Amino acid sequence: MKAVILAGGRGTRLYPTTFVVNKHLLPIYNKPMIYYPVSVALLCRIREIIIVTNPEDVEIYKKLFLFTEEIGVDIKYAVQETPGGLAHALLTAEEFARGAPICLILGDNIFFGHGLPDILMEARRSVEKEGGAYIFVYYVNDPERYGIAEFDSTGKVISLEEKPKKAKSNFAVTGLYFYDQTVFEKARRIEPSSRGELEITSVNQEYLKEGKLKAKLLGRGFAWFDAGTHESFLSAGEFVYTIEKKTGLMIGCLEEIAFNNGWISRQKLLTLANRLKNTDYGEYLSKIAKSKD
Ligand code: TTP
Repeated sequence: MKAVILAGGRGTRLYPTTFVVNKHLLPIYNKPMIYYPVSVALLCRIREIIIVTNPEDVEIYKKLFLFTEEIGVDIKYAVQETPGGLAHALLTAEEFARGAPICLILGDNIFFGHGLPDILMEARRSVEKEGGAYIFVYYVNDPERYGIAEFDSTGKVISLEEKPKKAKSNFAVTGLYFYDQTVFEKARRIEPSSRGELEITSVNQEYLKEGKLKAKLLGRGFAWFDAGTHESFLSAGEFVYTIEKKTGLMIGCLEEIAFNNGWISRQKLLTLANRLKNTDYGEYLSKIAKSKD
């Protein structure tokens, strides 16, 4: 399986900050926002990733992620010429996927919770074995902002709607999707929505029509943020700060996950830590490298 991370778009809800800065480079507490979705791919043990972004931002991502080669992760880049929607962005990664199933992650989404790696691996295995699509839903108070899933009494999805005026449920579809290789053919088939975008909800509706959509609830004990508004951006930063302070463990630390996955040695981790000497991040890496287990 390969991962596609979307880091394009206009980021209008964060204007004026994002007039000149790509949203996913802004810091969520102590690391760039893009680290969090990349960490989700790594937790899924995916080592081949493509970042889709705007033409003017590709070089900056290449620079930011130069080090990922050293942690055993191969990141490629694709350009989305104009922000034509999530499914439009996904289509730029078709060549990269080369028929493999994919994990699609929105660059401004942050996931945290006990057992998250197991849940991710379960979704990966399901799509690899049985095909179809696997999505995650989360209870929200403001459903009109999201893609919303409606369930029947047995827990099966019966409808999906993008930003409904009158929502049929409070279960928002989060920005983490697992798809079989038919996703590209589906994305090519759908029509633009009334706002002129190729919506990922339309792609999910295609899977739903075929009876091949699985949805899992991320319940109590999970936190999900779409950090695309000033308020959610701040909440996400505060959340990461609080959890990291309390537990002494970092969220979204790519080098640590690579080490835990067995992709790099203790020595390599120490070398990476030394490069970030005198920073909290570097200190943390050094602590992990020197820990006993
Ligand atoms: P959105 O938050 O829906 O859009 P946006 O980032 O442009 O922000 P705003 O609504 O404030 O203008 O996008 C969700 C994620 O998908 C986000 O991480 C950016 C990314 N994205 C793309 O990569 N390409 C696109 O064409 C769009 C619309 C979004």
